[in-house]
Amino acid sequence: QSQKRRLNVLKSVLNLHVCVEEPWCSFVHTDAEVSTRRKTFAEVQTERLEQAERTILIKCPPKINEKKLLQYLSSHGKINSHFFFENRGIHALIEFSEKNSIASLQDVIGIPSATEHHVVPFKSRLFIFTLKNPVGQAAAETPIHLSPQSHIPVKDLIQKLCGAESISSQMYTLLNEYQLTEENIKLRFLACSLVRDFARAYFPDSVVKPFGSSVNTFGKLGCDVDMFLDFHKTGKHTTKMKKGPFEMEYQMKRLPSERLATQKILSVIGDCLDNFGPGCVSVQKILNARCPLVKFSHQPTGFQCDLSVSNSIAIKSSELLYIYGCLDSRVRALVFSIRCWARIHGLTNSVPGAWITNFSLTMMIMFFLQKRSPPIIPTLDQLRELADKEDQHIIGGYDCSFVSDFSKINPTKNTETLDVLLCDFFEYFGNFDFRKNSINLRKGKEVNKPESSPLYIWNPFEQDLNISKNVNQPQLEKFVALARESAWILQKEDKTLRMVNKEPWGLAALLIPFGKSNPNKIKNRMKGIGSETIKSLLDSLKKLDS
Ligand code: CTP
Ligand code: MG
Repeated sequence: QSQKRRLNVLKSVLNLHVCVEEPWCSFVHTDAEVSTRRKTFAEVQTERLEQAERTILIKCPPKINEKKLLQYLSSHGKINSHFFFENRGIHALIEFSEKNSIASLQDVIGIPSATEHHVVPFKSRLFIFTLKNPVGQAAAETPIHLSPQSHIPVKDLIQKLCGAESISSQMYTLLNEYQLTEENIKLRFLACSLVRDFARAYFPDSVVKPFGSSVNTFGKLGCDVDMFLDFHKTGKHTTKMKKGPFEMEYQMKRLPSERLATQKILSVIGDCLDNFGPGCVSVQKILNARCPLVKFSHQPTGFQCDLSVSNSIAIKSSELLYIYGCLDSRVRALVFSIRCWARIHGLTNSVPGAWITNFSLTMMIMFFLQKRSPPIIPTLDQLRELADKEDQHIIGGYDCSFVSDFSKINPTKNTETLDVLLCDFFEYFGNFDFRKNSINLRKGKEVNKPESSPLYIWNPFEQDLNISKNVNQPQLEKFVALARESAWILQKEDKTLRMVNKEPWGLAALLIPFGKSNPNKIKNRMKGIGSETIKSLLDSLKKLDS
């Protein structure tokens, strides 16, 4: 038994090395430093935003001579990197080494005459490549490589998982299939940078930055791009100016509330994107929401985008999750598996409603990891203790300080395998006293619920907010029932027998809607749950089968 355990530990360590190669965990290398340190969230953001400013997107003909295209573009400057992808036709993302190469390219491009098309005088960074004879001899022989921008279908994933050696390696397989690729991340930052080009028409100092799952290390291929307009630079400018005798005109036009200002800004940017934004379609202004936003589909990159105005606290929670995601390779593997499980069983949904969101679910997983013995990740209070002067941030009266350089965080001594963690996660929340307790990541322990919401997860920064306020009792009960069922499957199901019978096992068995295999089983295992829930669950299972 102990040999088996050691083998599992070894496997998870080996997997750890595989995961270090992914784009999230980039390192800072300097000649002087022998040791390397991981980049902070802010460093990664700055670098990627700057890279996106030097980047363009080209729509290409179906058959393209890669060499010819690169040769032509090189006459405008050095190309740092490029890749091709399919999105209603082939596109190429080109990253120049210098920003002025783009201006040089824009200068030689003709704008369609006004008699044929009514054009808006805006030079975009989206180009169409049209050569008279694009397919040369060489192109026919060497087809271009298309970088995938979506994950494999669940059916294929399950098949792949069945061939893995352990649940732990199943979880790393899922992670590798679903996580954002280097190319996809570049495309996300480019989408923000293209929106910034528009925002700048109104607000010259503004920046558009991604937040949420595009940058918190937990995004999967295909997830939306959450972006926000940041006037940070303008803000700095304001503080400087306060000392002098002048006030700028635009600062004088004050509005009675920040919310109204946000709504006005988003309204004009929304109109601007709708009227002039190349490839921005289905623009929807949702200005009365708690957090006003503009939703649109960005066709050239293929992303669904949510644009809001700088929400410093949401960015802090993205950074916090980024740190947790980078600290230990098991964190992301666990989150991706559980998020995938939740989506398949209808616990999460792409439209808003009374269900648990990916964000809430991720926070629950972080809390579970804080509660391990020894803990796998530190509590927010512990991260605050490690914060230095530059890390001090008070936003809207809330202390949002925590360490940004995570080389200061001691690595965990916990060596549990993902097999154990997955099963224990389901068991832990299958038996959690949701009626009495709430989830508090700042303290890393259960706290009495301050009010009666079925699920109470403290916003880590705005301590009087519950991030899962939307979740209703039936949804929570469904989560509990599915967690219990999943723990039962992992503990009791005979892996060898399932493999011999060519049945999905381990994580794969959890990714098949349970009602489909045997609805009677689930009924027997739901001791302690209200009969109403059992009835509603059985009803929903019946619906699944019909
Ligand atoms: N957010 C928050 N409080 C909430 C909901 C969201 O602070 N109640 C912030 C979080 O920083 C979150 C971001 O807004 O990461 C984006 O929200 P959302 O798109 O719902 O979550 P993601 O983390 O991006 O996950 P998904 O992949 O489902 O989009
Ligand atoms: Mg999101």
